[in-house]
Amino acid sequence: DYVRKLQDISFLESTLSDTLKIGKVVILPGDSDQEDVVKREIGRTAAHILSKLLSDGNKHIVAVSGGTTMAAMAANVSGSQPNTVVVPARGGLGDNVELQANTIATVLAQKLGASYRQLYVPDCVSEDILNSILKEDIGVRAVVDIIKQADILVHGVGRASVMARHRRLGSEVIAKLEADGAVGEAFGQYCALDGRQVYMTNNAGLMLQDLQHIGTIIGIAGGKSKAAAILSVIRASRQDILITDEAAAHEILKMA
Ligand code: F6P
Repeated sequence: DYVRKLQDISFLESTLSDTLKIGKVVILPGDSDQEDVVKREIGRTAAHILSKLLSDGNKHIVAVSGGTTMAAMAANVSGSQPNTVVVPARGGLGDNVELQANTIATVLAQKLGASYRQLYVPDCVSEDILNSILKEDIGVRAVVDIIKQADILVHGVGRASVMARHRRLGSEVIAKLEADGAVGEAFGQYCALDGRQVYMTNNAGLMLQDLQHIGTIIGIAGGKSKAAAILSVIRASRQDILITDEAAAHEILKMA
């Protein structure tokens, strides 16, 4: 029975990778919504794939997002990568400290034996304030420059409504997101199911147009409830590796 299940999963992986045109899809059995262990396994798999990418002897800059799935990856990684630098993909200090991209970058770097840089730019500052921070704060600018050179991006994916509430976006913005059909969110970018980018939080770091310069983009997210979110983000950006679970995969295939 177990062998059949594994065969089913590898069939599911190749179907999803063909349908979504993603080079590599890894699917863990189960549903992250139902069992925490599935999220941990997604994290462990992501850690393994990242370690392999870093072991080619080259210098790497890894940009990471925040969230619980990313924390599961950071918890499971180990290695000795003194040539690697880990940075947060974008600013934003809104999350619980342990789930912020800055913290994930630090934990990941320490476990990898790599170095890290932090980006201290709060969410929800006006464009003017953001521009003057970028202009006047040499420290922030130096980190943004490093982030823009990232060759690997690992990010989580969330449901637009959940993330908008979590980040305490204003009621006008939330209404606009709903009206525009936003279903998914990744690195501050809110996307509709057809891949339209509906809204982007104002912050420093990676922007959608930077993704084309990144060698490997890895998305990690599971759970049946995230299927539409995952599909929207994949359609809106580029994804080279997707690590998800069986429940999300089945649901994505129904929608795609
Ligand atoms: O807030 C950082 C972030 O990566 C978001 O971009 C994403 O929507 C969310 O976390 C995913 O979090 P989780 O893995 O906890 O669902």
